[in-house]
Amino acid sequence: MPEPITIFVDDIAIETTEGANVLDAALRAGICIPNLCYLPEVTPTGACRVCIVEVERHGRTKMTAACTLEAREGMIVRAHSEPVLRARRNIVELLLAEAPESPVLQALAERLSVTDVRYSRRDRDCILCGRCVAACAEVAKQGSLGMIGRGANRHKGLPFYKEEYCTQCNECHDRCPLELSPSGRRGDHCGVCGSELSMNDAIPDICEDCVLS
Ligand code: SF4
Ligand code: FES
Repeated sequence: MPEPITIFVDDIAIETTEGANVLDAALRAGICIPNLCYLPEVTPTGACRVCIVEVERHGRTKMTAACTLEAREGMIVRAHSEPVLRARRNIVELLLAEAPESPVLQALAERLSVTDVRYSRRDRDCILCGRCVAACAEVAKQGSLGMIGRGANRHKGLPFYKEEYCTQCNECHDRCPLELSPSGRRGDHCGVCGSELSMNDAIPDICEDCVLS
């Protein structure tokens, strides 16, 4: 049985358990840390880096992804400090350069006040976050989809690019963060996090799929 502990995120004390996922603990406590590749039902990979935070332990500070960070007693986490926001904006800029037409990335950029992209556009429809690969392996239990190649040529794909390895279950597609739909009502922002993603019609200022809603 994991020990109950207290961590501090943005100076707010959160009761959680030893080894718990820090991103999850923060979201449950109502502290909205932007994230893209995190899926509670699969092993976190820390691929997108959007959930970057500063963590302080034993007098040492480092930047790390909150979704791969395990909670320890007394841990101090800063999710919205100026260095964190600067780093997160830069990460979103890089992601936006990969897929500039993605409404999800555009909404995330708007939420973080990213107005300029200084990196060259690659116009892809994938940010290599790995959620589809994890969904194939851990949700659909197929393990067919994987990442292929290196560097600029890296992409997701089936073994030998053969469709017969896919059962067409769609678990990958359903979990792609770039498939999340912004509200379609530009200017309507979630009252909690400022995002425009999947706004709930019944409660217009809260995101539909957000764990906070
Ligand atoms: S297809 Fe979607 S879920 Fe898969 S790696 Fe690309 S962005 Fe992520
Ligand atoms: S959500 Fe944590 S690295 Fe992507």
